[in-house]
Amino acid sequence: MTMKTPIAEEAPGMITSGENISYWVASVQPLGTAPLMQDETTDILVIGGGIAGLSTAYLLAKEGKQVMLVEDGMIASGESGRTTAHLTAALDDHYQAIDRAFGEAGSKLAAESHTAAISMIEKIVNAEHIACNFERVNGYLFLHAGTKKEYLQQEYQSVLRTGLEARWLNDTPGMPAAAGPCIEYRNQAQFHIIRYLHELCNAILRYGGKIYTKTRATDIDSSGAVCNGYKVSANHIVVATNSPINNMVTMHTKQFPYRTYVIAALIGKNSMPHALWWDTGNEDTRWISAPYHYIRTAPYDQQHDLLILGGEDHKTGQAEDEDVPEELRYSALINWMRIYFPAAGDIVYKWSGQIMEPIDYLAYIGRNPGDKNIYIITGDSGNGVTHGTLGAMIISDLIQNIPNPWTELYDPKRKPTKEFGKYISEILKMAGQYADYITPADIKNIEQLTAGEGAILGKGFKRIAVYKDDQQQVHAFSAVCPHLGCVVQWNADEKSFDCPCHGSRFTKEGELINGPAIAPLTRIDIQDLHR
Ligand SMILES: Cc1cc2nc3c(=O)[nH]c(=O)nc-3n(C[C@H](O)[C@H](O)[C@H](O)COP(=O)(O)OP(=O)(O)OC[C@H]3O[C@@H](n4cnc5c(N)ncnc54)[C@H](O)[C@@H]3O)c2cc1C
Ligand code: FES
Repeated sequence: MTMKTPIAEEAPGMITSGENISYWVASVQPLGTAPLMQDETTDILVIGGGIAGLSTAYLLAKEGKQVMLVEDGMIASGESGRTTAHLTAALDDHYQAIDRAFGEAGSKLAAESHTAAISMIEKIVNAEHIACNFERVNGYLFLHAGTKKEYLQQEYQSVLRTGLEARWLNDTPGMPAAAGPCIEYRNQAQFHIIRYLHELCNAILRYGGKIYTKTRATDIDSSGAVCNGYKVSANHIVVATNSPINNMVTMHTKQFPYRTYVIAALIGKNSMPHALWWDTGNEDTRWISAPYHYIRTAPYDQQHDLLILGGEDHKTGQAEDEDVPEELRYSALINWMRIYFPAAGDIVYKWSGQIMEPIDYLAYIGRNPGDKNIYIITGDSGNGVTHGTLGAMIISDLIQNIPNPWTELYDPKRKPTKEFGKYISEILKMAGQYADYITPADIKNIEQLTAGEGAILGKGFKRIAVYKDDQQQVHAFSAVCPHLGCVVQWNADEKSFDCPCHGSRFTKEGELINGPAIAPLTRIDIQDLHR
């Protein structure tokens, strides 16, 4: 692999939420503003500078509302900077599943709402003259090698009932014959997400909004939040932190963290159609949410486009349950790519990211259960760019008391009754992670650790997260996640400690990368390890 290197020196986690750098992050300079340094009062406080938070701030600022956004890293330093940015109403859990959970009327609303989100992005691109390679393209859903044709036929029937513009094709355009038939979704889209988000920031500022980066929000309640230690008083608080940091339990029993992997390979300029492709997913998986492959192209340089290909998902912190650790997931992607896209050349980027999988396939958008003026956007699955945009549309309507046709469908307090079996199965998997206290650790003594690596060290019943830096200095922390007490796992690919229960992540130095935890790992004196 010919890998590109990071483009700027910043504290870990400030630019992006892992060691690997995505193509989007690498191809633009990071964007930040001054951090918050005083108390403030605002009508609307938005927490989180990803697609969900920035789109919400943009829509409200454009309406003349007083808006302030805080982001604890740089702009798009969360999962938005690690996406693949397919903009599609072909939802990744498939309409036959959404039919079961919400009925055919629910599927129709879901399709309409994601179609509207794509149109909203296009409208903003045009209104603000954003150069982000936004392009309308077709999408193709084809069969995973292990899936029966009947599954795709059934999906086609469900898709037709939603009213989406789709047709059945006997061969999948742009792919070898082995890919077989597909459903074609017309008029989907793709873009360069960070270019888009940077221009959203500029527009928010132009419309009178305020943005503070390197500003962490804590202590969120109905009066506002504490940001970098200063009180921000607000009438409405929108928590767009991907995984909510205001709601410690309820929402985290309704969604589950998965990791997903991406490679970007060089292909000849315009040698492939600009399009989106997805396979139907591996039904033999041991995971509740079937991993699937997702593919697109993107303009790169004068001679090349990029083929950007993702998949090989697993529950966060549980990659080794399949004997394929995080860092080896890319080899699986490369092998798959060589079969289905044999013309692809050198791999120039690789990265991974985290997805919050809702138990019943659709995001949770609206008032946080039990709160009147605190709103959340979460559970956005592999369709988080459209879910995030849709979240902004729904919440800006809620704040302005404008009726919205999708409020009920995405209401965070809905109950997943129709998917109860799946729910119990996920909860049992989560409960198993607390038993780690009595399961073997990765290593028994520090000497087993090589420089640049981390692990979970066992000391009796205690589990300790340890990292040895390049100068051979050992950093040690309690491996107990400060959220609800699961044991974190070492992620050798992104060099982070990841919690398998609800997806909190920490840098190799124990700092918080993302919630629901709101505190870092507790540091342990290295001397204590030798006692
Ligand atoms: C590899 C990958 C591929 C994907 N592909 C697609 C795709 O093709 N199409 C699609 O629609 N979706 C895709 N998704 C999903 C989608 O990218 C995400 O769901 C979406 O970007 C999440 O946006 P967000 O704004 O909710 O979260 P984020 O982008 O994570 O933004 C949340 C922000 O909140 C900040 N924050 C957290 N805590 C605090 C705090 N206390 N104070 C201040 N700020 C805080 C974080 O730093 C972060 O920047 C993909 C995801 C991954 C990982
Ligand atoms: S994220 Fe909940 S226990 Fe770690």
